[in-house]
Amino acid sequence: QDHIIISPPLPRVIQPYKEKSLPIFLSLKDPEIATHGSENSSGRCLLTLLGLAFILAGVVVGGACIYKYFMPRHKVYRGEMCYFENENRDRAAEPYFLPIAEEADIREDDNIAIIDVPVPKFSDSDPAAIVHDFDRLLTAYLDLQLGNCYVIPLNTSIVMPPRNLMDLFAKLATGSYLPQTYLVREEMVVTEEINNVSDLGIFIYQLCVGKETFRLQRRDQIMGLQKRSAENCHSIRHFENSFVVETKICQQ
Ligand SMILES: *[C@@H]1O[C@H](CO)[C@@H](O)[C@H](O)[C@H]1NC(C)=O
Ligand SMILES: *[C@@H]1O[C@H](CO)[C@@H](O)[C@H](O)[C@H]1NC(C)=O
Repeated sequence: QDHIIISPPLPRVIQPYKEKSLPIFLSLKDPEIATHGSENSSGRCLLTLLGLAFILAGVVVGGACIYKYFMPRHKVYRGEMCYFENENRDRAAEPYFLPIAEEADIREDDNIAIIDVPVPKFSDSDPAAIVHDFDRLLTAYLDLQLGNCYVIPLNTSIVMPPRNLMDLFAKLATGSYLPQTYLVREEMVVTEEINNVSDLGIFIYQLCVGKETFRLQRRDQIMGLQKRSAENCHSIRHFENSFVVETKICQQ
């Protein structure tokens, strides 16, 4: 009989903390715990909401990062300029204009202009990809016909800074700018081979890695250099200003 009387209260004591799955010692010390049930669930709800808010914020920030990564704030422009060909010494010959087309990827954030010169239609110059790095003050020409890369200090009197270059191409695109101009010739000589293009900045590295790369110097800046008859020269005609430049690159 005694046994039967004592046993029923036991489950009653155990039940509350079993239901709440709280540690036994808490339930025994603080019977009020049982009344915290509703507060607990609202707390859990708040925590869930907070978690959802974090996930949402993550999605928004991540989305913005992906957007910025895949949709960079630079634009590829197409432009064409014509230059007056006055090479012809026969004065009776009609002057004519030769067109130079270009694609320019101008990244103001990176201080970079990447110029693509496709195979020209009417002249004997080489197709090329040109990188002007305004931070490193370097220009690299990749002659796409030869597959060689040439590096020279950036000449700021020939290459407009990125913002002005964007303005130039914007004008060329709207056709409000008369794209008839003149030709400036420059002649470069290969001085040495560059074996490691890692130190030339990421953009020139990407252009020239795996290619034979050479350092150039303007011919008029080399004292006492004899022009050799058997020199191997290639020309690239391009524009990064209101005039067309013919860069003649000669291998000694
Ligand atoms: C930049 O180009 C101009 C025009 O071709 C030339 O006169 C000048 O010497 C060049 N400057 C440098 C530093 O090479
Ligand atoms: C090129 O130079 C960089 C740094 O100057 C160096 O880390 C790298 O190993 C070099 N690469 C080769 C192929 O020599």
